[in-house]
Amino acid sequence: MRIIEAQDYKDMSRKAANIISAQMILKPESVIGLATGSTPIGVYDQLTEGYKKGDLDFSKIHTVNLDEYKGIDAENKQSYHYFMNQHLFSRVNIELQNTFVPDGMNENQDEECQRYEKLIAGLGGVDLQLLGLGHNGHIGFNEPAEVFVKQTHCVSLSEKTIQANQRFFESKKQVPKQAYTMGIGTIMSARKILIIISGEDKAEAVKKSFGEEISPHVPASILQLHHDVTVIADKAALSKLDI
Ligand code: F6R
Repeated sequence: MRIIEAQDYKDMSRKAANIISAQMILKPESVIGLATGSTPIGVYDQLTEGYKKGDLDFSKIHTVNLDEYKGIDAENKQSYHYFMNQHLFSRVNIELQNTFVPDGMNENQDEECQRYEKLIAGLGGVDLQLLGLGHNGHIGFNEPAEVFVKQTHCVSLSEKTIQANQRFFESKKQVPKQAYTMGIGTIMSARKILIIISGEDKAEAVKKSFGEEISPHVPASILQLHHDVTVIADKAALSKLDI
């Protein structure tokens, strides 16, 4: 596990975008796993800049997103699908048919989860997976639990996650209670993993994930076992970790 200290959010975003850019330049037909939330917005801005400058070409890139709320369609402004269109897909030359997000409107959980797993396998697996870190150590929507769930599944969101996501909705009542997410095994199958973390409010989660024992109660701690994981975190997020 490589841990790279960034000065601040902007520096973290730039460093992470550089790693994704290198992946895209070395393998223009890469499959990139993407995350939503506040943390990757700066990375998507940097990648957009790279495209505008002519340094990056998305035309052969495929993307698979980590997760999506259940019961929300792609046109809904709170959907992760919408988020991706807004922050990245509509700003670069990616082919929309090469971008994949779990279908939140598929009521049939088993069917949707199997479809997504097959889709990822059909693309040849993920070359580089971008992740953010939840305050409770979640990755994707893999919440603290008794066991690590391997494959794409439908989860009931924890109270803490519902509270954290409330800022994107008009009221807590509107925050979806379930989501589809890649499983821990799906994430761990990526050839490379890049996790980005910013802010002092994540310092405890960083310490528990990367400085303590591996436990399904802290889902991100499993990343300690991955052979190629890069953590890019700013000083504030690393403040409780001994490195
Ligand atoms: C989003 C996702 C989540 C977030 C995490 C951190 O696709 O999978 O695990 O990465 O909740 O969210 P932010 O970046 O908003 O703090």
